[in-house]
Amino acid sequence: MLIKPFLKWAGGKGQLLNKIRPLYPQGLGNQINKYIEPFIGGGAVFFDIISSYKLDKYIINDINKELINTYKAIQQDIHSLLEYLSKITSYYKKLSTEERNLFYYDIRNKYNSIVLNSCINVEKAALFIFLNKTCFNGLYRVNRNNQFNVPAGKYKDPAIYDKENLLNISQILQKVEILWGDFATTNNYIDNNTFIYIDPPYRPLTKTSSFTNYSTYIFDDKEQIRLSSFINDIDKKGAYVLSSNSDPKNTSENDNFFDELYRTKNIIRIEATRAINSNSLKRGKINELLISNY
Ligand SMILES: C[S@@+](CC[C@H](N)C(=O)[O-])C[C@H]1O[C@@H](n2cnc3c(N)ncnc32)[C@H](O)[C@@H]1O
Repeated sequence: MLIKPFLKWAGGKGQLLNKIRPLYPQGLGNQINKYIEPFIGGGAVFFDIISSYKLDKYIINDINKELINTYKAIQQDIHSLLEYLSKITSYYKKLSTEERNLFYYDIRNKYNSIVLNSCINVEKAALFIFLNKTCFNGLYRVNRNNQFNVPAGKYKDPAIYDKENLLNISQILQKVEILWGDFATTNNYIDNNTFIYIDPPYRPLTKTSSFTNYSTYIFDDKEQIRLSSFINDIDKKGAYVLSSNSDPKNTSENDNFFDELYRTKNIIRIEATRAINSNSLKRGKINELLISNY
C-alpha cells in the first residue's frame, strides 16, 4: 500500500528517505519486530517502515497534543474527519484570493477556540490539516498560550487532503499505538527487539536560526543532553537506535557538541537540502547527522 505523509512538517524526512532507508538495521522485519518513533511529526520514516515491513508492534508519540489528536482522529473517526475536510475545502475552493485569506484567519480563530480534553476532537483535527496546508510554509508555531499564530501562506491552489491516502492511513493506523507525551515515556515500551528512529527538533545552527518552535516546549542543549542519556539507556536494553540531527560543523568547524555527546555511537554525515530554513542561512546543501548504535 502506497502511503504518503498527510502533513507538511518542519524537518520532515520525505526528501531524505533514500539516504535514511539503507541505514535501517538488518533484521528489521525478522527478529526486530517492534518500531517506536518518539518524535513523530509528519511521520515520513514511520510511513515508509509501516508500508514496507510487517512488524508485530508500532508505537508513535509526540508532545504536540493537537498533532496527536489529528493522528487519533484519522485512526478512530476517519469518515467524520473526511466530511469536515470536504465541507471546509469545497467552501474554500469557491472563494476569491482575498476571501481565502480572510477565511484562513476565521479558521485559525475557530481552531484556537477549541480546547482539547481527553476525547478526540475531529473538528480540530480537520482544521489542523486545513491550516497545515494553507499556512506559511506548513509551519506549526504557537505563542505562550498555545495559540497557533502562523500567518496565511501565499498559495494559488493548495492541495488540502488526499481522500484515498487518508483512508489508507486510517487503515494502517489500526495496528498502531498512538501516545501523547514527552519522548522519555516511550522508554517503557522498548526491548531488545525494538528499532527506534529519533528525529528531535534540531539543534539550531546559529543563535538566530531556531525554527524548532513546534510547541510551547523548548528543545535546548539541555534537552539534547537529556535525549542522549535516553539513547544511552535504550542502547543498554539492546534496542537498535537511529537518530537525526543538525551538524554544527556546517557553521562552526570546531563545534564538537554531537561528536562528543555521541562519541560511543556511529555518526554518519549526509547531504540534505533544507526545506524550511532560517533567515540567516540560505536554502541549500548542508550536512545532517545520522547517529546509530549499530
Ligand atoms: C523534527 S520534528 C519530527 C519530524 C518528523 N520525523 C517528520 O518526518 O516529519 C520534531 C518533533 O518533535 C516534537 N517534540 C518536541 N519536543 C518533544 C518532546 N520533549 N517529546 C516528544 N516530542 C517532542 C515536535 O512536536 C515535533 O513534531
